[in-house]
Amino acid sequence: MPTTAIAHSNIALLKYWGKQDGPGNRPDTPSLSITLGALTTTTTVEEADADALQLDGRPVHDAKIERALADWRRDYPIGPLAISSRNDFPTAAGLASSASGFAALATAIDAHCGLRLSDGERSAMARRGSGSAARSIHGGFVALAAPDWRGEAVLAPDAWPLAVVVAITAPEPKAVSSTVGMDRSKATSPYYPAWGATADADFEAMKAAVGQRDFDALGELAEASFLKMHALMLSSRPALIYWRGASVECLRAIRELRADGCRVFATMDAGPQVKAVCVPDDAERVEAVLKDIPGVVRTLRSGLGGGARVADS
Ligand code: DP6
Repeated sequence: MPTTAIAHSNIALLKYWGKQDGPGNRPDTPSLSITLGALTTTTTVEEADADALQLDGRPVHDAKIERALADWRRDYPIGPLAISSRNDFPTAAGLASSASGFAALATAIDAHCGLRLSDGERSAMARRGSGSAARSIHGGFVALAAPDWRGEAVLAPDAWPLAVVVAITAPEPKAVSSTVGMDRSKATSPYYPAWGATADADFEAMKAAVGQRDFDALGELAEASFLKMHALMLSSRPALIYWRGASVECLRAIRELRADGCRVFATMDAGPQVKAVCVPDDAERVEAVLKDIPGVVRTLRSGLGGGARVADS
């Protein structure tokens, strides 16, 4: 009998960019994310004679998934598997699919192979595939921090409902992957030590802002975090320039909306898409403005979602 699990994507409001040396794919710095209910990966696993992978209905080889399976098999009894995974959001839209993908895969394998992992162990398993996936095990606001580097639920999705409008400015896959980009920043950016030195204080301040449901403080910290991360990217050698002209126009529009009373802030990841986080009442206005910016090819809207789980049969 096959086993199916679903997981949602997440976006970090406090960013992870840079790994510890050694095994386990542990981040250098803490992060804090929101899980996005509208962006879902559904993954089915079943026994097979040899590993086989299908993504969105097509047979593929994926080095990152193959590496994760080999790594997991050092610790868990996982036989050869046929894995089939689908995203309900366009994979080619430049939105992170590895977070929801590895969270769904770890959840499906845990159930299918009878590993009986705790949420924390399953989060660590997902992290070994992709750092951000550790956070998609939980819904709502999720922290990933020392010493365990397992996702920890900070606030349930319905405890502070927020909306996210994603402005897609370039649908093609990103030029430099997060894994390669963050290693480059750690090795070459003169600002990397400052990133590490300020991370814990930023993390504590953001956790406090979430605890107090302080939207303005959360927005100020989130914008500072993504801009600090892009400063690392820009100061890497060779430089990592993920922005498009339309990305900058979206950021400018979000500032103008805010000056005009809208409760909204921006964040970006290792790509040109701009994510506007806002209170639900302002989502329609934010989306209407962003979708009309030249260079924005489409927008997506999401609320917060729940954690990774086995699908009902
Ligand atoms: C910019 O989790 O994709 O989205 O661990 O190498 O798979 P790997 O990296 P990944 O990096 C995420 C980087 C980010 C910020 C974040 O999600 O915290």
